[in-house]
Amino acid sequence: MSKIRQPDEEVKEVAQEAFSTASNYENVRPGYPAEAVELFLNNLGVGVMEKEDDNDNKPRPFTILEVGCGTGKFTRVMLQVLEDKNVHVIASEPVQSMYEQFKVVVPDAEIIQCTAENISLPDSSVDAVIAAQAFHWFANRAACEEIHRVLKPSGTFGIIWSQEDLSVPWTKDLYVFMDTLHEQNGLVFPYQENWKILRSRIFDKLFHPPKEDSSYKQFFPSSIEGAYNYLSSHSVVSGGTERNKKDFKEYFDSVMEKHFKADGIPFHHVPLQLYMYWFTKEA
Ligand SMILES: C[S@@+](CC[C@H](N)C(=O)[O-])C[C@H]1O[C@@H](n2cnc3c(N)ncnc32)[C@H](O)[C@@H]1O
Repeated sequence: MSKIRQPDEEVKEVAQEAFSTASNYENVRPGYPAEAVELFLNNLGVGVMEKEDDNDNKPRPFTILEVGCGTGKFTRVMLQVLEDKNVHVIASEPVQSMYEQFKVVVPDAEIIQCTAENISLPDSSVDAVIAAQAFHWFANRAACEEIHRVLKPSGTFGIIWSQEDLSVPWTKDLYVFMDTLHEQNGLVFPYQENWKILRSRIFDKLFHPPKEDSSYKQFFPSSIEGAYNYLSSHSVVSGGTERNKKDFKEYFDSVMEKHFKADGIPFHHVPLQLYMYWFTKEA
């Protein structure tokens, strides 16, 4: 008899490996700026339901499902921003250690354990679905159709990514290396050509053309060592082979030498850019 696969086993192997140490992820990743999260949530239509009454005159909450919630870095900022709103947040995460850590760090939030490709919620049951720094892991037809299935008519799928700002020369250099790893692992990011392809092949068939915003820049103050810890926590490095990790360290050191150390230029921060998209389901 074949064994039923656990949500953990359904995610890419490199994700299983990278996210098996939730505490490292929690410690080295930057949070999200509240102002940007507010803009992101407003565009999902949060708050619209507040005027709507059910039969018993109690406004029904606006329900948000966050897929790939990890340790709740985005969830915590979202809950703060939505403190005075009538919302019901359901977080979801497939990897056991992230799921466990979430329950410790965000004890009052509801969490379910599932992948984006197999969401354990009924059809048309949520007003919005969010993927924060996670969509590259499930940028496939099965997940997009599943997200579409659980959304109510006119519901919105919001994607937010915090990405190194590739208009800065040293991050652009570093990404020559990172992108070979992204490609090897079949990951899709918003600055890549394959994101455009995915949109035309899958999203355009399921959703209205998106609203988007990529104007928000963020600076993550850091030393070179901190930048290394942060960048090497990117799952394609931390979940890769020992060889990958060694190659990344050498490449990172060479980029730091070229752009900072050789000329004694001080290092201040990792420049980040936020990409946000809002895809709406037909009414
Ligand atoms: C980079 S973390 C982002 C976590 C969190 N949303 C944040 O903003 O910090 C990506 C998360 O996606 C999860 N993930 C990987 N594959 C997934 C899948 N197929 N379905 C849902 N989540 C997945 C990982 O386990 C991980 O927790």
